[in-house]
Amino acid sequence: MRKQLKDFIEAIGKDAVAVIPAAHEVTKSYDTEFKFHQDPDFYYLTGFPEPDAIAVIAPSNKKHPFTLFVRPRDPLMETWYGRREGVEGAKKNYGADKALPIEKFESELAKMLDGNEKLYYRFGVDNRLDQTILHYLSGQRFRRLKTAYPPHTIIDPTLILGEMRLHKTEKEVEMMQRSADIAAEAHILAMQNCRPGMNEAQIEAVIEHHFKMSGANGAAYNSIIGGGDNATILHYVENNMPLKDGDLLLIDAGCNYKGYASDITRTFPVNGKFTKAQREVYDVVLEVQLECLAATKKGNTVKQRQDLSIELLTEGMKKLGLLKGKTKDLIKKKEFMKYYMHGVGHYLGLDVHDAGRYFTEQQAKNSRPFAPGMVLTVEPGLYIPPDDKDAPAKYRGIGIRIEDDVLVTEDGNVNLTAKVTKDADEIEAIMNEGK
Ligand code: GLY
Ligand code: MN
Ligand code: MN
Repeated sequence: MRKQLKDFIEAIGKDAVAVIPAAHEVTKSYDTEFKFHQDPDFYYLTGFPEPDAIAVIAPSNKKHPFTLFVRPRDPLMETWYGRREGVEGAKKNYGADKALPIEKFESELAKMLDGNEKLYYRFGVDNRLDQTILHYLSGQRFRRLKTAYPPHTIIDPTLILGEMRLHKTEKEVEMMQRSADIAAEAHILAMQNCRPGMNEAQIEAVIEHHFKMSGANGAAYNSIIGGGDNATILHYVENNMPLKDGDLLLIDAGCNYKGYASDITRTFPVNGKFTKAQREVYDVVLEVQLECLAATKKGNTVKQRQDLSIELLTEGMKKLGLLKGKTKDLIKKKEFMKYYMHGVGHYLGLDVHDAGRYFTEQQAKNSRPFAPGMVLTVEPGLYIPPDDKDAPAKYRGIGIRIEDDVLVTEDGNVNLTAKVTKDADEIEAIMNEGK
């Protein structure tokens, strides 16, 4: 049995049963669908890649602790829409103790759930399944005095799964390192290929071409390819404007490798040479990024690192003449948010903004300490609106973010994305090689 599943079975205990659904295909328009993306919790536990499946995990069921409901084999459907594992494949290739066609789920539900104290199920994600579960619960409660004993406690499994997913195994780290390497190479290629007059879409193509050529399943999220003041729009994804001589280009792009996301941002000059003003802002962000990266280690907390990024960036804004006053006051009044309005990083894994709590359980306000096995991004930035009359004219329209992916270890951290430089001189050297 898969280690993740074994650990989950242990965590929920003998008096519980869990119902974990796969994702469904989502209609794009009329009869076409968006590219399918498996539900990360379901994928983490089962590794099963197909839509319309449900895992039922029942530790007290000695014979069948792991049942998979899947789309059955169907020659006609497979000719039109692709191969299926079917019930045979679910058992043979994914370790299910029992596999049944998905159509059987509803009629089997009472048999699987009755007699368990707790049901682990997350309401609010899969509307149709919610209705099926509610229908079962209300029906069984009605019959309770006679023969049926439905679970009386319903628990969201996300808490357990989030904690498990937060602490990566060695095998997961290996996949994340590969994901990071592919993304780092793609950013280097973007630097090497970028020329004034190109379109943002062409740089996107360079990056995503490399993702797929390297065995990744495409981008982990919509790539952000923002030239000039497009870089000041945090989630700019149109990626369709020409790149101008003298502008900066901000690229936030990572790939999905065997389900695991990488998430890298680099900012560099379209023509291969930073202007003095661009370099001044860049060096402020870089210095903060290096400090926050070093602070991503055991003994520090998520909040300490966030506060550090705010303090250092506020100092930097003062140095650049963007803000005036005492650092303490500027932080208290949240003045820094005019130029730095997002978090310094997030957990990374199967999701780009990965599962796991940012606060300790005991006291919601206690920020969580970093622990070995966590992977987080470090991504401070400064974004100076093009029409900001308060900012020195030379800085208007500059947007800079620098983002790496970091694994916390026993004695510090490993920067998984160190392969792509963020040193301004080295970036210029890469861009001008062979020019
Ligand atoms: N690319 C999304 C993020 O950096 O959080
Ligand atoms: Mn990120
Ligand atoms: Mn990012």
